Amino acid sequence: MNRHIFIIGMMGSGKSTIAPLLSDKLKIPYVDIDQDLMEILSLNIEEIFNYSEKKFRLLESTYFLEHIKNSPTIYATGGGIVLDKKNRGVLKNSGYTVLLKASVPILNDRVNTDNIKRPLLKNKSTLEKLWNQRKKYYRDCSDVVIDTENKSPQVITDEIIEKMN
Ligand code: S3P
Repeated sequence: MNRHIFIIGMMGSGKSTIAPLLSDKLKIPYVDIDQDLMEILSLNIEEIFNYSEKKFRLLESTYFLEHIKNSPTIYATGGGIVLDKKNRGVLKNSGYTVLLKASVPILNDRVNTDNIKRPLLKNKSTLEKLWNQRKKYYRDCSDVVIDTENKSPQVITDEIIEKMN
């Protein structure tokens, strides 16, 4: 594999779980964009959002667009990576993009149990709204769509590798 692999999808789709597993199997380094931003800034995502969502998006995009200049890497992106046009260009043209999918009720269950604070999640209908706003972008940018429901992370990882070959 001599190109980047981008893992995209909604909050709760499993991007941060799958990226390290894929990295382990393919022997390609991985980067979790949100994790890196938190480490670099010594702030959690909520604290970055407290400056403004716009600032967070700018940081996310700047870091992403700079990092892809490196050698092939697996990226666990944040759910909103597709909101920026330049990011979408990269997802479409600079690697292999995997969309992890699950229904909104399943996503809701996952985000309610994974203990990650997500400033955009105000109530139960938020994920549905975000999915409706973003689904076109997710689909447009992806080379493959992987249904993650009722599958273990290992099975999902193997399926991605199978589809890539
Ligand atoms: C966001 C998703 C989050 C994080 C931020 C905004 C979004 O990442 O980047 O809270 O807009 O969908 P995960 O998708 O990893 O939860």
